[in-house]
Amino acid sequence: MVELRENEHKTLRIIEKLGGKASVQRIMKESGLPDAAIMRAALTLQEKNLAKILAKNQTIIRLNIEGKLHEKNGLPERRLIRALTKLGGKASITKAVENAELEKQFVPIALGWLVRKKWATIDTKTNMIQLLEKPVKEEADEKLLGFLKRKGMIEGKQVIVEDLSSELQPAVKILKRRKLLDVNEKTNRVIEITQAGWKTIRKGIRVINEVTQLTPELIITGKWRKTELTRFDVTTKGPMVYPAKTHPVQQIIQNVKEIFAEMGFTEIRGPIVETAFWNFDALFQPQDHPAREMHDTFYLKYPKTGRLPKKSIVKKVAETHQNGWKTGSRGWQYSWSPKVAKKLVFRTHTTATTIRYLAEHKKPPVKVFSVDRVYRNEKMDYKSLAEFHQIEGIIMDKNVTLRDLIGTLKEFYVRLGLKKVRFWPSYFPYTEPSAQSTVYIPELKKWFELCGMGLFRPEVLAPLDIKNPVLAWGGGLERLIMLKLGIDDIRFMYKNDLNWIRRTPTCQ
Ligand code: PHE
Repeated sequence: MVELRENEHKTLRIIEKLGGKASVQRIMKESGLPDAAIMRAALTLQEKNLAKILAKNQTIIRLNIEGKLHEKNGLPERRLIRALTKLGGKASITKAVENAELEKQFVPIALGWLVRKKWATIDTKTNMIQLLEKPVKEEADEKLLGFLKRKGMIEGKQVIVEDLSSELQPAVKILKRRKLLDVNEKTNRVIEITQAGWKTIRKGIRVINEVTQLTPELIITGKWRKTELTRFDVTTKGPMVYPAKTHPVQQIIQNVKEIFAEMGFTEIRGPIVETAFWNFDALFQPQDHPAREMHDTFYLKYPKTGRLPKKSIVKKVAETHQNGWKTGSRGWQYSWSPKVAKKLVFRTHTTATTIRYLAEHKKPPVKVFSVDRVYRNEKMDYKSLAEFHQIEGIIMDKNVTLRDLIGTLKEFYVRLGLKKVRFWPSYFPYTEPSAQSTVYIPELKKWFELCGMGLFRPEVLAPLDIKNPVLAWGGGLERLIMLKLGIDDIRFMYKNDLNWIRRTPTCQ
């Protein structure tokens, strides 16, 4: 004889009583059992081939506030057409709207649908509406609205899309697009007794009284010896639990900041909206430098300009650009304009932040870093974003050299887990010598550029009255993250793809 636990037996009997097939909700009502208990019982019944669980997806629709309003008054285009008909089939928009007593927000909707449904034409020159079709036929959307109206009075205002007629079903899309419906998806589970189940019922079932929990009473009285204890399968997997965690990008930012701190650096931050002066001019980038062009830099529309620093600095920067001032350079040989320097931009690199900081911290040693957002007018694709992060650092001290810079960066990358790093000569308008670091990723068998670096030129340092050498470097953070996490599309990091965020392990 088949053995069933109490809940399984109860569930089976209720389904039997209900004709062999019943929804979980219905069984809940009849049995008083919570739905988890019914589902557990149903799973066992299914395992024993006595019942089948059928899952049916249901889309439940309900009119929202605006929908209810239209249900009462008719769709806006219907109201307008009624008024127009009364006006003889032709009238000015204003007149028709007035007669229809149409609320202002529904006017464009009504006009749009009138034309779309080919009920009327609008002459945009004379602002007259003319009726096209007579009588104006009810379309599916209005039929559905009417259906919901009738249903609403009987059945608590909720309708299952799958149960609608094939004429009405497509109209759901239209009313949904018109934002007149609240839509909810639900899985409805139905349990059905199988042939084997019926046979078992006929043959008889032995109900076993199982105990899921040992109580003190069971132990004291010794009854536990005779009770059957529910078996638990301790090898089944528990449900996945995703505890709250920091976004992977934020984790790596945190990681980078910690490494800098361990290496003796202090974090600095600067404004996102910068003057061109700090973003470009103070870095000896000529005012006709291509990077300043509209296609690369975001310029602010309002306010358009910001304030320049004190005159003595501006004057020295201007002269350095024009003729080299006292730096021994010839400068760029053009007429420097304070107007151009005053323009406000979204900083294009965080070197604007470090140079700003240096202007106010001239005494060695200085060891600071920044991990912050920068902006460039780039088309978004798999490798570029218009808003991204840069890692930037400077060291100012007596007698520091390019070797110190390379050593510091090597150490930084090793701590980040990147061992094979190489340095190449490069060019930046504000450093001399300049270099570029690359890292080898064995999995991809490729070298990737990491960051630019160099010693700030005298043309940058002298106008700010800085007497000691300054090592500077900066580069994109997203590239580093892509390499670390093995992502090949930069946009992925900011897509808020929950599955990816959950899957990506926490980095230490
Ligand atoms: N600012 C440069 C960039 O955006 C990087 C850099 C920083 C180069 C400091 C040299 C020194 O690519």
